[in-house]
Amino acid sequence: MRITVFGTGYLGTTHAACMAELGHDVLGVDVDPAKLAKLEAGEVPFYEPGLEEVLQRNIASGRLRFTSSYEEAAEFGEAHFLGVGTPQKRGEFAADLIYVDSVIKTLAPLLTKPAVIFGKSTVPVGTAQRLGILARELAPAGDDVEIAWNPEFLREGFAVKDTLHPDRLVLGVDRDRPGRAEALARDVYAQLLDEEIPFLVTDLATAELVKASANAFLATKISFINAIAEVCEASGADVKILADAIGHDDRIGRKFLNAGIGFGGGCLPKDIRAFMARAGELGADQALTFLREVDNINMRRRTRMVELAREACGSLLGARVGVLGAAFKPDSDDVRDSPALNVAGQIQLQGAAVSVYDPKAMDNSRALFPTLSYSSSALEACEGADVVLLLTEWKEFRALKPADLDGVVRAKTLIDGRNCLDPEEWRAAGWIYRGLGRP
Ligand code: UDX
Repeated sequence: MRITVFGTGYLGTTHAACMAELGHDVLGVDVDPAKLAKLEAGEVPFYEPGLEEVLQRNIASGRLRFTSSYEEAAEFGEAHFLGVGTPQKRGEFAADLIYVDSVIKTLAPLLTKPAVIFGKSTVPVGTAQRLGILARELAPAGDDVEIAWNPEFLREGFAVKDTLHPDRLVLGVDRDRPGRAEALARDVYAQLLDEEIPFLVTDLATAELVKASANAFLATKISFINAIAEVCEASGADVKILADAIGHDDRIGRKFLNAGIGFGGGCLPKDIRAFMARAGELGADQALTFLREVDNINMRRRTRMVELAREACGSLLGARVGVLGAAFKPDSDDVRDSPALNVAGQIQLQGAAVSVYDPKAMDNSRALFPTLSYSSSALEACEGADVVLLLTEWKEFRALKPADLDGVVRAKTLIDGRNCLDPEEWRAAGWIYRGLGRP
């Protein structure tokens, strides 16, 4: 099939490359010429394991191209996928839909033949219906333009696998205007459906809400264990063993029960806020007030980490702090709303000299937080440190041994913000080790 993908960020680039990998002819569309130039040269503008290979292979085969021309895209595509960002509005909880709206406003007037637009971006419930009305009004093809919603659940770091082998596919279609969307989606995802990946077809609102609810659930699960971590800290209990124990119950499950400095990234934080804002608009705000608490618990973990660092140093003024990790999670260079970078920034603002090292997120960190100092290795970041903070659980940091840092640091104190090291090993080597929610 001939497919276009609007937006070449984490989501759009992955979707475009993976659709080509499935054998479709794909045109990636973006308004940013710098991004397009990189992609055309076979370079992924962010770090995502395995994606560059898929991109290069499909560019070489001629199945994947990029353009800034909406005219070309409108002419080319049978199925148009919308994968632009929906960031948080400045100073508000709601999602900013300007990029989503702008794609429809630019694309629809160019649609002269029947077309289906599949939204993939995370949007407030009701958006797809509104965009459908807008697209049909603007398009010369009028009622032959359909909007469907096909939310994306990919995780950064596993984006290729999650796109080619997702847990499930969800498609929302306009129940009032039965059209070709489902049939087209079945063609696009034929290989995945052959693998018997569950395919749930529903109405537009349900599809939009599936995504919002999935992210709200995940955020809640993390904040739940982090709230329990606070009680563990107050009572001398160990949240890690507790999570293992409750995780053995199938109904609870061990995944997403890692206590630490909490969740961040370009999705969970802004998505739970947008969900609350939308529920408020719909008059259902009481239903989601618990998400405000989820957000508060999450933010408190960052403050707690700063407090622990201060306790360790006596005073942060003039202290040297080595920070391992800046990305919001390992295997990503994404620093959007990163708890790690946020903690590093707060500590620096309180007078400490902070040295940060991250295996992949250095450039993004420098751009967002130019005033922090950056080191070119974990050991360099820890040089002369009064305390070492492990804030993103990269494999390289999980593999650190106390002997690696002995003689490098000024004081053998380590605070493990991700509870990913073995306390016994570090304590046995003469270190003061502190985890979050652990004795
Ligand atoms: C998330 C959802 O998982 C994905 O389905 C959705 O499409 C987009 O948002 P992603 O942002 O890539 O994906 O990150 P995820 O792996 O969910 O992690 C989110 C944050 O939670 C990270 O900061 C991570 O460090 C933190 N986290 C995760 C914890 O603090 N504890 C855990 O147990 C798990």
